[in-house]
Amino acid sequence: MKKIAVLVSGGGTNLQALIDAQNNGILKSGKICCVISSSKKAYALTRAQNAGIPAEAVSRRDYTSSVQFDEALLGVLERYGADIIVLAGFLCILGESVIKSYPNRIINIHPSLIPSFCGDGFYGLRVHEEALKKGVKVTGATVHFVNEITDGGAIIMQKAVNVQNGDTPEILQRRVMEQAEWEILPKSCELVCAGRVSVTDGVTVIE
Ligand code: GAR
Repeated sequence: MKKIAVLVSGGGTNLQALIDAQNNGILKSGKICCVISSSKKAYALTRAQNAGIPAEAVSRRDYTSSVQFDEALLGVLERYGADIIVLAGFLCILGESVIKSYPNRIINIHPSLIPSFCGDGFYGLRVHEEALKKGVKVTGATVHFVNEITDGGAIIMQKAVNVQNGDTPEILQRRVMEQAEWEILPKSCELVCAGRVSVTDGVTVIE
């Protein structure tokens, strides 16, 4: 059974999807060992507490440099013995030391079909604003491994979602969450924990 650390920054609906998946058996090869929030006020912390999962905040503001922030994060991850890290709406960029410590063991959920609408500055509602501005008719979500390039790691799973007439960024965000994110994040997490995902030349193979 792999130990999963879930990193969050906000509402934590993707964390909730992971908790639900753990309870209904979709996520069975791993168990959430801790939730780490970049914000002390994140509702995700309350969700963790309600589920009886240890939760703490590691706030970037409490550290003078990103190197120190990364060290603090690594310290917490090691204390809980995390094997796999899931970025579930974690809005800080992870530093090299964290990424190098967990090669192909960090996964992220991004609310678009990568390589569209991704990279530096594309997070949260902003992604859906840009998709609507471009007028795409299909968007979706992507789960991928994290490497040193923002949203650049090997893709594990994607799911498409239709854009509809009259969509606002908020409406589209909710549909992408409901129809794609909350489904593919727990499924991908299970595949990674079960050791069914390998990476060759930047591309995943799923057994
Ligand atoms: C989700 O839509 C997630 O895909 C996005 O932030 C939201 C977090 O919601 N992540 C990114 O944009 C990362 N680049 P949640 O806190 O309710 O899970």
